[in-house]
Amino acid sequence: MLHFVESGTGRPVVLLHAFPMDATLWTAQRRSLAASGMRVITPDLPGFGGSPVPDAAPSLDVMADAVAELLDELDLDRVTLGGLSMGGYVTMAMLRRHPDRISAIALIDTKAGADPAPAAANREAVARTVLEAGSAEPVADGMLPNLLGATTHAQRPAVVATVRRWIVAQPPAGIAWAQRAMAARPDSHADLAAFTGAALVVLGEEDTISPSTDAEAMVAALRSGGASAELVTVPGAGHLTAVEDPDAVSQALLTWLARVG
Ligand code: MLT
Repeated sequence: MLHFVESGTGRPVVLLHAFPMDATLWTAQRRSLAASGMRVITPDLPGFGGSPVPDAAPSLDVMADAVAELLDELDLDRVTLGGLSMGGYVTMAMLRRHPDRISAIALIDTKAGADPAPAAANREAVARTVLEAGSAEPVADGMLPNLLGATTHAQRPAVVATVRRWIVAQPPAGIAWAQRAMAARPDSHADLAAFTGAALVVLGEEDTISPSTDAEAMVAALRSGGASAELVTVPGAGHLTAVEDPDAVSQALLTWLARVG
């Protein structure tokens, strides 16, 4: 079973973290939403934090099935599911494989497109590099400049240091497994179009990994199928909005959840 942390009681909300870190990313949102009467469950996805690297071949489907198994363990039939970046990819895999477990979705700094061939090849190169190095340091050095926005790099050195610490704590085998899983992911726009529930899309204004064109494409796909999708942009934040401006992301989730009931 996945390792997870939960807080609060009430409406179940499951939040899936980004690559390459763990559920610690959601600490602020877990506290804020729990204080507003929700049961917030934040798992470490397979291969990260306290959750072991799967034996299965790398696939986001394996991650989605692990989340569904956690819901079974917790006796949760349907939940509001949110994911940041890789967590968003897993949310879309859940839409494909376990649509009946999801009542509403929040897609944060993520995208529905598959990797172009050069991006997939780069993931394989990164996977080999971290395995050879036996350390997450190379991925921390390579990703940090783009993971966080220009404002955070300029004004929030403590956030930069914290995210670096989170990354280097992750096992190289988990990082390599997840890179290969993300490289193999399919395009998910049709899965968004098939979803008819409530959806929130959140975008860091300075996000260069999943920029506004990706967020707008997800909103368009969701609306094309009848979902009530809304887009919230967080100024002064990059790809890791939930960490760069935790209050803004908590507030976006709370306002949306209050409206969609
Ligand atoms: C993430 O933040 O989860 C990653 O940037 C996702 C990715 O590598 O596509």
